[in-house]
Amino acid sequence: MKNTLFWRLCAFIALGTVVLFWALSWLTNHTETSMSFITAQHQQQLLNYGREAETILRQDGEAALAAWLKALQQKENTWAAVVHSNITPFADTSLPENYLERFQLGRSVEWKIHLYFEENPTMEIPFSDASSHLLIQLPQRMRPGEFLVYAKLFLQIALPLLLLCILSFVLYQHVMAPLRKLENATKAFSEGKLDVRVAPYLPHRKDELTRLAATFDQMAQRISMLIYNQRQLLADLSHELRTPLTRIDMAVDFVEQNINPKQALERLRYEASTMRNLVEDTLTLAWLNNESPRLNTDDFDLVELLEVICEDARFEYPNCTLTTELTTNAEITQSSQTALGQAFENIVRNALRYTPAKREVKVSLTQSDKCYILAVKDQGPGVPEDMLSDIFKPFFRVDKARVSDKALKPSTPPSGFGLGLALAQRQIAAIGGNISAQNYFDNKGVLLGLEMVINLPR
Ligand SMILES: Nc1ncnc2c1ncn2[C@@H]1O[C@H](COP(=O)(O)OP(=O)(O)OP(=O)(O)O)[C@@H](O)[C@H]1O
Ligand SMILES: [Mg+2]
Repeated sequence: MKNTLFWRLCAFIALGTVVLFWALSWLTNHTETSMSFITAQHQQQLLNYGREAETILRQDGEAALAAWLKALQQKENTWAAVVHSNITPFADTSLPENYLERFQLGRSVEWKIHLYFEENPTMEIPFSDASSHLLIQLPQRMRPGEFLVYAKLFLQIALPLLLLCILSFVLYQHVMAPLRKLENATKAFSEGKLDVRVAPYLPHRKDELTRLAATFDQMAQRISMLIYNQRQLLADLSHELRTPLTRIDMAVDFVEQNINPKQALERLRYEASTMRNLVEDTLTLAWLNNESPRLNTDDFDLVELLEVICEDARFEYPNCTLTTELTTNAEITQSSQTALGQAFENIVRNALRYTPAKREVKVSLTQSDKCYILAVKDQGPGVPEDMLSDIFKPFFRVDKARVSDKALKPSTPPSGFGLGLALAQRQIAAIGGNISAQNYFDNKGVLLGLEMVINLPR
């Protein structure tokens, strides 16, 4: 689901609030009801008054009962009376005026008391023969619901406040936990801990915040890769620069000592141009790596471009045969002639460099619905299978010894630094294509050479 967090919060808040208010309302009602009864002790006390009144009436007569009732009224600060079942008072007692309007016999001490009446209710305790009854207005000290106000304050204000605070805290934690992880990761990353990632810390979540974490991880992955590549490139570059610099030192020594100064100066010029090429190529590679640009400004004829480059290559490597099998024309739009030209030149030169004299390098161009397929097949030594993808890494050379051998003999064709294919791969990617390398064999399984295949979008 796309907005999981939104729906989860929605459900949590809506359901939580409804349940909370329902529970509070139930709790308030329940508390009020349970507070509306006279306590068992007071009920017993009232029943005892009834028994006592009856005993006094039976044993000592009405006058004694009247005296006892007076004492009771004083003691409990209320009124009390004894009546016959037809509600006529006796034993020198009377009933309040408003009482008769509302009263019916039968308000037992176990009954629920309405807590909102201003006046305390009148309780009735029947004598054992049920013909007479003690009536007593509930003494104030026995009135239930004394703490109702506090209970209501607690249930309607304090408890909801507390529960809503807890609810908010839970929600806050739910949202903040991954954000805090993200914050820590960002901080660690900014302090140079490039391998920090957030997703492993949120294994059981799947929502908007985990998407944010995944985006952070992707960004961290890309930036750390860029920084790592940059460092590697810089380290390789400084390493590669050492050899020409040593040779420049040597040449300067020769000039100073006047030993074959003409040749030494030639060497100086050669090494300087090598270094310039090396630095320029490395900078271009760093740019292509970092920016991943999309080069799409040129429309041109691919066949024309290939023919010009092949012509130059033939001139440069006259010992090998370079044959072409191209279509009549191949229009390419929104591409880059320079990038493709440099990449192709590098590949053809590699092919010619690694192909022995009198052997052939074949360039062919075919097309499918969606792309042009450009293949360069040589008859050189090929590349070990496990290194076929490594040759596209910067400064990678299959046989470094062979390269340094050549480096010692500057009269041989310029030795490579292992940047050509790395550049070619990124240049071709920048125009939307891709490149791959494979060895090819005859039907007896004998290696014939290397084939580079470039796919270019039409
Ligand atoms: N056609 C080929 N046949 C055999 N090996 C090859 C071929 N093309 C490339 N390689 C191997 O791949 C390595 C990388 O090639 P790449 O073009 O990147 O570098 P380079 O040619 O050595 O130097 P540069 O192109 O920077 O002058 C080469 O050093 C070589 O070992
Ligand atoms: Mg090369």
